[in-house]
Amino acid sequence: MTDLARPQFERLWPTLLMSLTLPGAEQANAVLAPMLLAEDTGTEDLTVRYLDQDIFGQSHPAIGWLRQCCHKAVLDYAAELNMSYRPEFDIQGWANINRRGDYHNLHNHPHSWLSGTYYVQVPNQSGASRNRSDLNPGEISFFDPRPQANMNAVRDDGQFNPEYRRLPMPGELFLWPSFLHHLVHPNLVDEPRVSISFNVVLTRKVL
Ligand SMILES: [Fe+2]
Repeated sequence: MTDLARPQFERLWPTLLMSLTLPGAEQANAVLAPMLLAEDTGTEDLTVRYLDQDIFGQSHPAIGWLRQCCHKAVLDYAAELNMSYRPEFDIQGWANINRRGDYHNLHNHPHSWLSGTYYVQVPNQSGASRNRSDLNPGEISFFDPRPQANMNAVRDDGQFNPEYRRLPMPGELFLWPSFLHHLVHPNLVDEPRVSISFNVVLTRKVL
C-alpha cells in the first residue's frame, strides 16, 4: 500500500476543557469564603451584576494569589493549544454566590477568548431533599457546541453525549473556550456555593 492510499484523519475543532486543583487552595479558601459571603451580604445582586466588578482589582493577598494562578492556567492552556506565541490578555473576574435554590441558566461568555471558574466552597448535596432522582445539584454542565450534533451520533463514538457534567471540588479551577454553553444546577442545601468566575480577553491582535 502506498502512502497515498493510507487514510488521513483530522480531529477538527476540538473543545479544550482544562481543570486543575490549585496548590494552596485550602488556606486561600478559608479566607476567600467568608470574605465573599460578607461582600454578597453587603452588595445588592453581587452575582447578577457581574460586569460591574473586577474582583482581580482588589489588593487582598488571597485575590492576588488567585490572579497569579489564573494567569498561569491561561498560559498552560495556550501551551496545550500549541500556540506559537505568548498571548497577552486581561482577566476580569467576579464572585458567584449561589444560596439555596440559586442556579445559573444556560449561557456563554461573549466578547472573551477563554472563561473559567475557581471553586471556593462547594457544599455537599448528599443531604438535600429531592423530589426526583435526576437532579444534579451544584454541578456544572457543558454542552456540545455543535448544534444538535447528537442527532446523528453513534453510541461509543466518543462524542455521543451532548452534555458533560462535573461536580467541582473546592480548590479546582476550570478553564474553557468562552463560546461553550454551560449552566450551573441549583444548590439545594443551606450552605452557599461560592465560586469566582473570570473572562480572559486578548489585548494584542495577532493574526
Ligand atoms: Fe458562566
